[in-house]
Amino acid sequence: MASGLVLFSYVFLHFLNHSLGNISFEAMEWGGVLHEWIWRNPVGTVALYGAFAIHFSLAFWALYIRRHLRMGWIEGLRLALGLLIPALIVQHAVGQRLSYTYFDIHRVYRHVLFNIWVQNPEIAGVRQFAVFGIAWLHGCIGLHLWLRVKTHYRKVAPVLLAFAVLLPTMALLGVMHGAQQVAEKIRLDPAFLLALRQIGRGGDPVVAGTLTAVVHWFWIGFASALVLVLIARGVRALLERRHGGVRVIYPDGRSVRIPKGLSVLDASRRAGIPHASLCGGRARCSTCRVRVLLGLERLPPQAPVEARVLARLGADRAVRLACQLKPVADVSVWPLLPPQTTMADQSLLNLSDSGTERFVAILFVDIRRSTELVENRLPFDVVFILNRFFEAVGSAITAAGGTPNQFIGDGVMAIFGAETGAEEACAQALEAARLIDWHVGEMNHALANELPEPLEVGIGIHGGEVIIGTLGYREHATTTAIGEVVHIASRLQDLTKEYDCQLVVSDLVGTTAGVSLEVFPMREVQVRGLRAPLTIRVVDNGAAIGGDKFRTLPVEAGHGSNRSDPVSATLVQSS
Ligand code: FES
Repeated sequence: MASGLVLFSYVFLHFLNHSLGNISFEAMEWGGVLHEWIWRNPVGTVALYGAFAIHFSLAFWALYIRRHLRMGWIEGLRLALGLLIPALIVQHAVGQRLSYTYFDIHRVYRHVLFNIWVQNPEIAGVRQFAVFGIAWLHGCIGLHLWLRVKTHYRKVAPVLLAFAVLLPTMALLGVMHGAQQVAEKIRLDPAFLLALRQIGRGGDPVVAGTLTAVVHWFWIGFASALVLVLIARGVRALLERRHGGVRVIYPDGRSVRIPKGLSVLDASRRAGIPHASLCGGRARCSTCRVRVLLGLERLPPQAPVEARVLARLGADRAVRLACQLKPVADVSVWPLLPPQTTMADQSLLNLSDSGTERFVAILFVDIRRSTELVENRLPFDVVFILNRFFEAVGSAITAAGGTPNQFIGDGVMAIFGAETGAEEACAQALEAARLIDWHVGEMNHALANELPEPLEVGIGIHGGEVIIGTLGYREHATTTAIGEVVHIASRLQDLTKEYDCQLVVSDLVGTTAGVSLEVFPMREVQVRGLRAPLTIRVVDNGAAIGGDKFRTLPVEAGHGSNRSDPVSATLVQSS
């Protein structure tokens, strides 16, 4: 970064100097004296050329260590522009600096304006400005990528953008105005033209040949270095393929095989799986973080840079930075932030009083054909039936270990896993579905005389990372879960109507719970907010879910006992 800042300062001062041409070319030359004083003294020289050497060596190194060339357009543009700069700028550097240092050719603004902008503005002028324009754009993108993870960047970004556009515009206008003045002076004073042409050994063909050869050799060296880097990448890829790889498994079931040594973020990029990575994989933003669902015990330890970021977040040990995590065995990961996360979202998530982020299972349950329930019925009766329904569902949820979080009309949203791990959260949600089926059956049996037909319910379950936070106004605030997972669970509940079943549950919930749902029909559905289809299971009846994780339902639903406690009397722990 430091080398980039030195180079950016150089271009910045160059443009500032060009802008003085809006006053006069003499003003440009005055600025040029200052410019030379800064960059041609020993310290400035070492800083400038040292930064150049370091920056472009690092660029080649980055090109080598990058395991794929799939990247965001802005990073791709920065890389492409960065590779163009040395090839384009070498002529200017040789013509100005090398010729001054070794051949005593001291060109000041009047010479440059004359040679480039008076004699050959269409080709040399445009090329010259393109070189600095490219360098400026490359630098601005680099600064943007660096600053965008800073808290207050969004506030100052519009001002910086305006400045980034204004300065080169002023510089271009300055150069054109300065060139006009030089041309006018030549027209009025032929001696001025003569003086322009007498510049040290500027006309010496040997010197010109030497300088041209330097440029050509630089181009050859630069192109060779680039080719060598690409060859080295190819050799490495072959070697890695020989040594086998690991699988990274995503929540939607996609699995990506990568060579050992690549990060989880590399895997996402390779497979074209959208993955938030605001800082571009430099362990600065934490937006790439994932929860490791399977393979936790074989993860490599956190490097200090990763540990520092995760400690700042207060993340538990299952949360890792995808850009730093290089799995040595198969892992199943859950990206925690949406791919399109911006820094504003990120800072919201990091506010401790805004809530905490954790993996939970969300269950939605709703009464089917509820409008028929309220038709031709006294309001008191409706309230009575709904409260019996809420009691049946609520007690099933709490018995399973969850929390009935919101009662919305004739539906309930429940959260599982507020204090447990992902596996238990999902198992609890599945058990709640079984118990809801049973309890609603019991309720139907008890209210057989009140109901024209038994109540039916639809249940949707999904799991993943949500924000648990307190929302609302003063004493009306409630703690709840927000995030994509909640919307998906609600959507799965809606799907029960379409599939005419009682329960739709995402495959991820079964996998995370360690409960086999393979006996139930599988479907793939497109859910808003998810790019890839979501794999779900269609379950006719919640009680049909089995497994040794669950308690035994002692009697068949709808043929209940006369228990006094709606929960404990009906449940027997299986041993
Ligand atoms: S991409 Fe920013 S920390 Fe991983």
